[in-house]
Amino acid sequence: MKTKLTELLNIQYPIIQGAMAWVSDGKLAGAVSAAGGAGTIAAGGRSAQWLKEQIEVARSITDKPFGVNIMLMADNCDEIVDVVCEAKVAYATLGAGNPVPYFEKLHNAGVKVIPVIPNVKLAKRVADKGADALIIEGMEAGGHIGKLTTMALMTQVIPEVNIPVVVAGGIAEGRGLAAALVMGAAGVQMGTRFYASEECSAHINAKTRIVEATDTDTVVTGALHGHAVRGIQNQMTNKYLALEKEGVSEGELEKIVVGTSRKAPVEGDVEWGFVQAGQSLTVIKKIDTCDEIITSIVEDAKKALNGVQQYI
Ligand SMILES: Cc1cc2nc3c(=O)[nH]c(=O)nc-3n(C[C@H](O)[C@H](O)[C@H](O)COP(=O)(O)O)c2cc1C
Repeated sequence: MKTKLTELLNIQYPIIQGAMAWVSDGKLAGAVSAAGGAGTIAAGGRSAQWLKEQIEVARSITDKPFGVNIMLMADNCDEIVDVVCEAKVAYATLGAGNPVPYFEKLHNAGVKVIPVIPNVKLAKRVADKGADALIIEGMEAGGHIGKLTTMALMTQVIPEVNIPVVVAGGIAEGRGLAAALVMGAAGVQMGTRFYASEECSAHINAKTRIVEATDTDTVVTGALHGHAVRGIQNQMTNKYLALEKEGVSEGELEKIVVGTSRKAPVEGDVEWGFVQAGQSLTVIKKIDTCDEIITSIVEDAKKALNGVQQYI
């Protein structure tokens, strides 16, 4: 498959594995890139040393391009940017803050910059400032989310910018990729589908929870206080949402969620940790290898694209 994204990143298929804090490491990113997609190591919450090691892990698996996600609000953000520049990974995705001040440094190191964007205004701004591509992420996605849906973002952002747009949020199989391409996107980014992959290092309890979950099983915590996070309902989210309804203070609510994004994937506690995941869960029926995931998505996307010819 050839799109502006495959050309930009020099990859075979227009599929990025979205960064997932505490979930996507060098092993997962390497496996996705080896399978022809683009794997992303999540640096959020991690040390610069950990990132260096994971870049080596990915390079031991594949010589194909992979990237790193930089959490701009992290205290060690500048250190992480330095590691990314020294290692000269193919691209950096940037979220949770203003990415523009980092463009020049990353570009000088030969790293493509791909900010994650929640609305048209910011999309135009990063495109004007020289982003190589951008990711729009709808509120169907797992993890931290914005306010707009994937369809509303595709409809409104894609016609407004001249750089490749990657679509994320609720895409988990081939028809989603086909739909994004039909909307004018250059590719997709998927997180949850790769969480439930063989090569993902997350605890089996968390991966199993994703496989067992269905369409209505996710909830959003933190929406009232401007840091909405989507994941699978459990005892922790029940407690959080009940207290939120009672009007408990932000500080008290924060105590319930702190550390939970690590607790599920690392320790395997899927009741008091948070299995962050997107809404498209019913189609994730088992734990597949990254190669199986990518191959089936590409095949199904081609079938879907061929199928729509009949309407012309
Ligand atoms: C467990 C989890 C952790 C995530 N962590 C990050 C992160 O650290 N940085 C980031 O930019 N996006 C993060 N995301 C968002 C993903 O990169 C991706 O955009 C999202 O999963 C796409 O929606 P989907 O889950 O429906 O595929 C995370 C998503 C999940 C499921």
